[in-house]
Amino acid sequence: MIRLQNVTKTFNSDTTAVDNISFHVKEGETFGLVGTSGCGKTTTLKMINRLIEPTSGTITINGNSITSQEPQKLRRNIGYVIQDVGLFPHYTIEQNISTVPKLLEWNERRVQSRSEELLEMVGLSPEIFSERFPESLSGGQQQRVGLARALAADPSIILMDEPFGALDPITKRQIRTEVSKLFKQIKKTIVLVTHDIFEAFEMCDRLCLLDEGKMQQIGTPKELLFHPASDFVDSFLASNRFQLELLSITISNILELKENSELYWSPPSEKDQQDDIQADKSLYEILEEMEQRNHENGAIIHRIDGRVADSLSFSDLLNRFQSYKKDLKIGGEDG
Ligand SMILES: Nc1ncnc2c1ncn2[C@@H]1O[C@H](COP(=O)(O)OP(=O)(O)OP(=O)(O)O)[C@@H](O)[C@H]1O
Ligand SMILES: [Mg+2]
Repeated sequence: MIRLQNVTKTFNSDTTAVDNISFHVKEGETFGLVGTSGCGKTTTLKMINRLIEPTSGTITINGNSITSQEPQKLRRNIGYVIQDVGLFPHYTIEQNISTVPKLLEWNERRVQSRSEELLEMVGLSPEIFSERFPESLSGGQQQRVGLARALAADPSIILMDEPFGALDPITKRQIRTEVSKLFKQIKKTIVLVTHDIFEAFEMCDRLCLLDEGKMQQIGTPKELLFHPASDFVDSFLASNRFQLELLSITISNILELKENSELYWSPPSEKDQQDDIQADKSLYEILEEMEQRNHENGAIIHRIDGRVADSLSFSDLLNRFQSYKKDLKIGGEDG
């Protein structure tokens, strides 16, 4: 667990980049730092791996102050991914990925097999990519290598600063979905900096919204949306509210099922055609998929035991969405 307590960073004794912030990041959680340009996200992140030292306040990891270790040693246990990737241009892809394992003096076979395993994991074939140099890779491929490098020595913590910032919207969404899936599998503790609120809502369990170095609210996406702590939080989300609501509410929420329920669905006219659907899929994804599959009359959603859980048209879905929202606002339930 990472814990920041009353952390402040002042540059040149006049710019307070980070102003008395406190939060903790639970083990295995993806925690987002969001807010507009210059609000202190990068400064906060860099204080966690001691690229920047706080002016005051304390930061601990699993109860130990981060100042109790040499910065270099600390950083070997913390993966770090940045927007412009920062691959070493004169190193091959494999050498780039292997930097930290080599520093940790892993034997050669282990280093190589780890590099191959990671390339596979981020969807790049080792046969094709291992021996190539960064300049011969596209931006999105480089970003995947950057991620593989951050994961190389299996750190329990990964810090990511606008990791998908340089990508076009289509590639961005694709990589984001893959990375989200990967993160769920490997159960890392992740701090993600982004000014893209959709990215934050898709990827993060909880978020901290910053403004001018000050914490505005910490909470789940739903808490920020339905129980904003201030007018600032409310207006920060206002222009994208509808889409964010669809992103933060899952199919299992509106069907009142558990997040791990096993479901499949079929179009109303073809009851035999059955595909699994994940119960934690957002309504946004469900609607999008219905649209793509031409399920214009909705879909039948079944439990895995064959019982029909529900038959949902587009408008049923939206009606349930509205009433779920109403309950959320009144009840203060948190998902
Ligand atoms: N080394 C530095 N010296 C002086 N001021 C700095 C330094 N680094 C950051 N700042 C200032 O601190 C504030 C916060 O910067 P920071 O980089 O943390 O913002 P950010 O939220 O990451 O913004 P962006 O979304 O644009 O990356 C800004 O006003 C910035 O100008
Ligand atoms: Mg930044």
